[in-house]
Amino acid sequence: MKKGVQWVVEDKKKKQIFWPSEEMKKIAYVNDESFYEEAKKDPIKFWENRAKEGLTWFKEWDTAYESKPPYFKWFVGGKINVSYNCLDRHLKDKKDKVAIHWEPENTEEEARKITYGQLHEQVCKFANALKKLGVKKGDRVAVYLPMIPEVQITLLACARIGAIHGVVFSAFSGESLKDRVENSEAKLIITCDGYTRRGKVIELKKQSDIAASSPSIEHVVIVKREGNEIATTEGKDVWYHEIVENEPAECEPEQMDANDVLFLLYSSGTTGKPKGIIHDTAGYLTQAYWTTKLDFDLHDDDVFWCTADIGWVTGHTYGCYGPLSVGATMVEYEGGPDYPDWGRFWSIVEKFGITVFYTAPTAIRMFKKMGDEWITKHDVSSIRILGTVGEPIDVEAWMWYFNTVGQGRCPVIDTWWQTETGGTLINALPGIGPFIPTVAGRPFPGGTADIYDDRGHPVSGEDTGYLVFKPPFVPGLLRGLWNNEKKFIDTYWSEYGKETYFTADGARWFDDQNIRVTGRVDDVMKVAGHRLSSAEIEDAITSHQDVIESAVVPKPDDIRGQVPIAFVVLKAGVESSEGKEKEIIGQVRKEIGPTAKPHKVYLVKGLPKTRSGKIMRRFLRSMLVNDKLGDATTLQNPEIVDYLKEVVGYKE
Ligand code: PRX
Repeated sequence: MKKGVQWVVEDKKKKQIFWPSEEMKKIAYVNDESFYEEAKKDPIKFWENRAKEGLTWFKEWDTAYESKPPYFKWFVGGKINVSYNCLDRHLKDKKDKVAIHWEPENTEEEARKITYGQLHEQVCKFANALKKLGVKKGDRVAVYLPMIPEVQITLLACARIGAIHGVVFSAFSGESLKDRVENSEAKLIITCDGYTRRGKVIELKKQSDIAASSPSIEHVVIVKREGNEIATTEGKDVWYHEIVENEPAECEPEQMDANDVLFLLYSSGTTGKPKGIIHDTAGYLTQAYWTTKLDFDLHDDDVFWCTADIGWVTGHTYGCYGPLSVGATMVEYEGGPDYPDWGRFWSIVEKFGITVFYTAPTAIRMFKKMGDEWITKHDVSSIRILGTVGEPIDVEAWMWYFNTVGQGRCPVIDTWWQTETGGTLINALPGIGPFIPTVAGRPFPGGTADIYDDRGHPVSGEDTGYLVFKPPFVPGLLRGLWNNEKKFIDTYWSEYGKETYFTADGARWFDDQNIRVTGRVDDVMKVAGHRLSSAEIEDAITSHQDVIESAVVPKPDDIRGQVPIAFVVLKAGVESSEGKEKEIIGQVRKEIGPTAKPHKVYLVKGLPKTRSGKIMRRFLRSMLVNDKLGDATTLQNPEIVDYLKEVVGYKE
């Protein structure tokens, strides 16, 4: 059997359980319990050993772990540079190795191949150009780019000079970019003229102009990608290719403190405005390096493709910092999975001989629906490991992924993590297993997970509880929220106190080691793997002049996992019409972006509320899936329930 898994050896709780083959175990970096044992014995020492073994330091730390709950620091006193670790240290023996294979969406355009030597050169040139534009250590740079290599170049150039990057998903609107630019007081935006998505030109520079007027912005750097006409502002807007042209191909990396901020990434929480999650330098990189290397068992000849967009944390850790710090060859694809047809991903797998493939359940479900022939007409036998991330995966999608894409040969690594955790925290390792549909697995060595009930007591057996993590916290965990200490404490460190990280996910034990994560327990939904909050979409809706209030709740969806459904109350005298529903959808599109568009808008005369005026989204959520509604007598307006039942067609 080729580098894969052995057949089912157990059938527990009606779930098939797979174990690594002897060959997989032979190849894998981790194939016995020693790593887990080392971590269990002394997690701090374990991470110190990993940081020494995996990373190159200018100066090693004085103190490995320092804790003042809920704050903690790793590798205090250490000096390091992330860009150096992703580039310079590979130049000795990997200068000509391909770092990035880039595949454009347009099949007529040629792919780009960038070696570690070339990437180093490009990063240094852009780092020098950024300095000339006045960007200094600690300054924020907003990155609003599609999937082109300049995105990795930008991240690494920022890291090289100590600037803090904040990527904003290119499918988010200019308004979203503006919010984030203003919150982080970014000095510079990097964007492109335009790009194509499914053959259609997206004018990104035009969107970025909405944010460029923010007072903190001094310059906008524009990458020429599409060649579409753009308007430029003299003195403020500069072309990327012009500013890098004459810069030297060397740039001394800044010696960063281990705990300096590497990046901000805005993510949805339970309130209207996304929060800027802070990741530090050395802790984040330690987690990125080791999870990439061990979860995907990346060896020198592997070709790794993580399909996530750079706008999400998965794109940061497994589409940039992880694979590049390990010195791997990675693939980056610019376009949609269905362009020009549903065979595109598999033609890319075949073209580059991809050996490790990492994607999201929503994509897996979509491919499953589209039919196996899109896959079977391509040779995907190069794949030896499959990964999934972003939301719970159902048994059928897991089995289809295993059997059709992996041809029954490849372990499926179901990685649970969050923007906050920087890297994976719960998953099976390829040489250890077990691989169980819907069960993410064990905590990555060095992390301590538990499942608590409402009162903070560990749950056992079949009970579902809340997933938490205990100290010492893994090096990749967030260090704060940008300009919002109160929210940081309220969100993560209030539920069970300052020494327990609250994930806001429900979970249960599969056995005494392996964990099944059941999904969010707060008002955050995962729409095609994208993280969106009810409050954020409601805010966008209520910014429409005719709206008084709204409630947005998720509804299960076969392909996208969940979709947002909006209940909207219009101002007195405003007529309900299909046109109004469309306007509301358009408003969300404009304020946030197409990802957040409500799947359906119900224009209603009222919303269920408690006596204190809090909207009971729980009722709406249950109504949409014909679940039991519970006691409505405590509501301020119990009569609204019968009315809403009729509106949505609720069946008892
Ligand atoms: O609910 C969990 C779900 O995604 C949430 C985190 O979303 P985000 O910050 O966007 O990061 C996604 C990529 C790391 C979690 O709170 N989630 C992520 N991975 C899994 C998952 N749920 C179940 N199984 C997973 N493997």
